[in-house]
Amino acid sequence: MIRERIEELRRQLEYHNFRYYVENAPEISDFEFDTMMRELQDLERAHPELSDPNSPSVRVGSDITSEFRSVKHRFPMLSLGNTYSLDELHEFIARIEKEAGPTEFVCELKFDGTAISLTYEDGRLLRAVTRGDGTQGDDVTANVRTVRTVPLRLRGDDWPPYFEIRGEILMPYASFDKINAEREAAGETLFANPRNAAAGTLKQQASSVVARRGLDCTLYQLAGDDLPFTNHWESLQKAREWGFKVSDAARICRTAEQIDAYIAHWDEGRHALPFPTDGVVIKVNDFAVRRQLGFTAKAPKWAVAYKFKAEQALTRLDSVSFQVGRTGAITPVANLEPVLLAGTTVRRATLHNAEQMALLDIRPGDMVYVEKGGEIIPKITGVDLSQRPADSKPFEYITVCPECGTPLVRYEGEAKHYCPNQGGCPPQIVGRIIHFIRRKAMDIEGLGEETVELLYENGLVHDVADLYDLKAGQLAELPRLGEKSADNIIRSIRGSVEVPFRRVLFGLGIRFVGETTA
Ligand code: IVH
Repeated sequence: MIRERIEELRRQLEYHNFRYYVENAPEISDFEFDTMMRELQDLERAHPELSDPNSPSVRVGSDITSEFRSVKHRFPMLSLGNTYSLDELHEFIARIEKEAGPTEFVCELKFDGTAISLTYEDGRLLRAVTRGDGTQGDDVTANVRTVRTVPLRLRGDDWPPYFEIRGEILMPYASFDKINAEREAAGETLFANPRNAAAGTLKQQASSVVARRGLDCTLYQLAGDDLPFTNHWESLQKAREWGFKVSDAARICRTAEQIDAYIAHWDEGRHALPFPTDGVVIKVNDFAVRRQLGFTAKAPKWAVAYKFKAEQALTRLDSVSFQVGRTGAITPVANLEPVLLAGTTVRRATLHNAEQMALLDIRPGDMVYVEKGGEIIPKITGVDLSQRPADSKPFEYITVCPECGTPLVRYEGEAKHYCPNQGGCPPQIVGRIIHFIRRKAMDIEGLGEETVELLYENGLVHDVADLYDLKAGQLAELPRLGEKSADNIIRSIRGSVEVPFRRVLFGLGIRFVGETTA
């Protein structure tokens, strides 16, 4: 009786999960779904003997942290040759047609996430493994089970008893923006781009965290002995029937012109997609032709990736300013004439360090190329020398700290300059205190960056120890701080003495002592 009810709930939840996440066509309300899920979870808790690693209830993840076992891939995960040039792409097509005659290609989007290999046995998800070095990767099954678009049990019954399917774990922009907003509010470091965020999330140790990160999974390649298909297109259609999310952007192309048109379409069209892509993958459709063409040491000869060029804009470099971090590291920042790039207005870009600036011979007044390669902070990639003013002179890097005037130093093996005046350089002092109060360190709520600056400017704190001598009365006298928030801050500071020592150690901001080392 109970066994049947559990099985019925699992079937229903699987079906509605598929309708909601894969087909974007829900049939029932979230409330009805949650009610069924709760009933299933209660029954499973009461009857642990009926548990199943592929039950839809695993989608919410668990707090048990897992070490990732290294697993050898039964079929190696190869990489793709890639090119930015249509001429090279045409040579690729010509080379294949010379060997195999007129050939059918399947064009697909190149999804910009992190590669995953899913193994199914008797229609059930057995394992999910990262690409790793291509020969072996990490077993991240518990985490992947929380990704709603990964089927835990397959639909239909005509799947091979054992096969692998490869695809990409993606983080949609909406999830990425939400997570970074949360991280920013918590004073945590931001993910540079959705690809890093997807890869980082997959290596999270608690699957319940993964479950909340809004990952997606698109599949694009089957692997197995004796797959029941003669071509790739057929395998994609079948995979979709079995419940996998397979992109509907794939097309069969028979000529170079059709492939060019596909690329031109998506070079523009990709900006409207909800997840990142960085090119188009062109694959031979017919498996017999694939076998005939074979492999190089690293990649199949029957497929190639055409990569979209990063979006670029040309604008004037008005001036260079220098930021001093809490460790004293100096970062040169370009102040640009505002320019529109990939949908946002760019005013500043990183110049990394002195060496990078010298290499590009960047000078204020130059017209420079700005690129956004999926990173949050745009970078300068070159100078248009033809537009350089005649009286321009090479840029001379600063030799003293812009904040405290101390001569800068360079440490062996490091690209950046440092201000060595740790005890007297204001942004270093303030930066250290801000680091100390971060959520991952002492977690002192109510004390934001601005308040720390205010405290420092008013001579109330000079190092982290001073925080613990503060009195509510001193705080309440500061502009913008009332008695109530002053009390809260003091309570929060006093409370922070309870955090475990590893967080104190991390909070001290010792070089090379990050969260993990601490
Ligand atoms: S096929 C043997 N198709 O690109 C060919 N790969 O540079 C296996 N990728 O590791 C890959 N979208 O992570 C293929 N539609 C697509 C893809 C795709 C993204 C990634 C994949 C692979 C890398 C190769």
